[in-house]
Order: sequence, then C-alpha cells, then structure tokens
Amino acid sequence: MGIARGAPVRLEGSGPVPTGLGRFGEFGGRFVPESLVPALEQLEEAFRVAWASTEFRDELAHLLTNYAGRPTPVTECRRLSERLGVRVLLKREDLTHTGSHKINNVLGQALLTQRMGKHRLIAETGAGQHGVATATAAALFGLDCTVFMGAVDVERQALNVWRMRLLGAEVVPVESGSATLKDAINDALRDWVGTVEDTHYCIGSVVGPHPYPWMVREFQRIVGDEAREQCRTILGGHDPDVVVACVGGGSNAIGTFAGFLDTSARLIGIEAAGLGLESGQHGASITRGVPGVLHGARSLFLQSEEGQILEAHSISAGLDYPGVGPEHAALASEGRAEYHSATDDEALGGFQVLSATEGIVPALEPAHAIGWLAREAGHEVPSGSTVLVTLSGRGDKDAAQVAERLGTELG
Ligand SMILES: Cc1ncc(COP(=O)(O)O)c(C=O)c1O
Repeated sequence: MGIARGAPVRLEGSGPVPTGLGRFGEFGGRFVPESLVPALEQLEEAFRVAWASTEFRDELAHLLTNYAGRPTPVTECRRLSERLGVRVLLKREDLTHTGSHKINNVLGQALLTQRMGKHRLIAETGAGQHGVATATAAALFGLDCTVFMGAVDVERQALNVWRMRLLGAEVVPVESGSATLKDAINDALRDWVGTVEDTHYCIGSVVGPHPYPWMVREFQRIVGDEAREQCRTILGGHDPDVVVACVGGGSNAIGTFAGFLDTSARLIGIEAAGLGLESGQHGASITRGVPGVLHGARSLFLQSEEGQILEAHSISAGLDYPGVGPEHAALASEGRAEYHSATDDEALGGFQVLSATEGIVPALEPAHAIGWLAREAGHEVPSGSTVLVTLSGRGDKDAAQVAERLGTELG
C-alpha cells in the first residue's frame, strides 16, 4: 500500500543547506537594507532550531495532516495518457485546504512566527493563492494579516481577494510599476523595514534573501518526498522517467524536485512563455533571463541591456514574475534540471484538456505544465515515458478569466 489520505504525515528528510549567507552556487545571498539583517538572522536561527526539533516537525506534521488534508494522492490519468501516448501521473496539491501547495509553506512560517513571539504576518501575492493561504493561517493562529497585491492582480483574482478579506486580512492593492507581483514584493519589503519588531514577512516562494529560498524549499519538500514514495508504489519500485512542474518563483517545482534529485528522473520546470518567447511578453526568467540582484537575492531576472528589470507577462498571475528562486538558477547552470516554457494559449489548452479528459480543472499555473506535455509528448518526452506532473492548484480562481478568454460566459 502507498501513503493513504489522512495517514500521519512524516517530516523526516532535510535537503542540502546552502553555504555561507545562503548561496546556491553563484546564486542566492542576502542583499537587503541593514535594518532587515537582524530580522533575517533571527528567522534563520529560529528555522534552524525548529527544523532540527522533533517537537516542531510533529506540530507541523499534525497541521499538515489534520488541517491541510495531507498526504495528497497521486492520480493516474488514464484517458489523458491514452491521448498523449505517455503515462501521466498527477501529484494532487489542488486537493489541499485552500486549493494549492502554498498552504504547506505558510503553516510552517506561521508556526515559526508564533515561536518568534511576533503577532503580525505580511505577505505578497500574485495569483492570490499565497495570500489566501497566509490569511487562512493568520486566522487559525490569531495573527493580524496584511496582504500586498498588484492592482492588476486584484482585478483578475477577485475571488481570492474576497476570500482574503473574509478571512480577516487587509488587502492592499499596489498601483506602482506594472501593478503585479514584483511591485507587491517591493511594498511588502518597505512595510517590513518599518515593522520588523512585531511582524514576520511570510514570503510565498523560494525567492528573496537567505534564509527564505532554503526554508521555503524545506517546507515544500513534502510534495516531492510524498510523490516519490507514491510513485514507487504505483510504478513497482521505479521512479518516473520525467518529473514536470510549473515555475513562477519556483516553490512547487523545487519542492517536487527535492524528492527526486538523487534519482535518474529528468527534472523539468515549465516557465510562462506568455505571448511567445520572441514577443518579449513572457515570464521565462531562466530561459531568457540574465544574472542580477532583485528582492534581496542574486538570481536570473528578465532585464534590459541596461540592467533594468523588465515586466513579465503571463496569463496566470502566479507565473507573472520577472525572476526565479536562486536554487533553480543553480540547478539550471549545473544542468541537473531543464527549463522549458509554454505559452498562454498552450496553458489554456492544458486547462481544457485536463478538465475534459480527467474531470480535473487545474489552476492556470500548472495548466502550463499540462499544455507543455501535450505539445511535447512523443517529442521532447518520448512516447511510452512515465511522467509525474505536480498539479500545484485548482482552477476555480481562474474560471472567470478563462471563460472570458474562450469567449464563453459563466452561468
Ligand atoms: C497554483 C499555483 N501554482 C504555482 C504558482 C507559482 O508559484 P511557485 O513557482 O512558487 O510554485 C502559484 C503562485 O501563485 C500558484 O498559485
């Protein structure tokens, strides 16, 4: 038998600790104003102690089982597999409480916030899933909560904005820049500089200054650790040939990859190609980015020749970020993981095909991974391969936007 739904979650493993001030090869680090250094040091120490403690891991595991609904299943997609000529398995993060993998990280950070004696959480959000997850944890733990969100995203993710407010969070629309995720992060960092004594900044992906990329990866490795064991049960002791996950900041992908790094599985991250890589309107920061420093870390970012950060574009708010977590930048430069991309239209295709063949409506973010697989099955992914795709979230939040794009009406 594999891991059953509702079985106690085990948090046993730990991945490599980054060197120095959080470096993954030449990427990572801690590039922040002096005033934030003590808070990052406090957080790093709190995380180190907590992650080494059985009590903290048991407490988090209890929440993941009894509140978030883990372990999530791995679903075999028979009809999609037949159509594509590859065997498709889905890791079902869409089935977690709040509907995406973001809850795994947020429960960990909320527990740390309590340990550090702070009473307020701030967060930034693109698709709104991380904002909803943070507002949820704040309600659960009795913490104050402010969520910064680009004004454009406030509009396209109205349902999630409503959910956050219902959960008791203040949602601050950010009008500056492109009014999307990158600008929301700027405002969250600005707030934190002034409130660091009693506020924890709950970053939603494997981005930002050390210790965030490391800490968030450790909170998300549950996805890959579970999936590896479940795949071995389904595949008679074997690992999948290919492991695919969409990449915004990179948290669901790095959490998934963490479980398979020491196997021979090909690890493939799918970035947003938006209107096409040649259009300049995309979010493919590994495929088309160059090294630079933003939001406290050195990584790969979309930049102009002069080094200005360019605006990213994607149909999905969660992939609309001009950078990527430093560990992905390192995995790409070492060649251990590969990064490809899917356009807005291919993501819409993925959204439709998974819904129609399997009865599973994916979020637009992982719909990029499905859309890429639909394009590459029989090509980049040889026929007959076994492919695990992480379905990082469910598509309810995207229904209105997709309906509009397809020229259909809700209701
Ligand atoms: C469902 C879902 N998947 C993926 C992402 C992208 O984030 P990450 O790359 O950190 O997993 C988001 C971000 O909001 C999301 O909501």
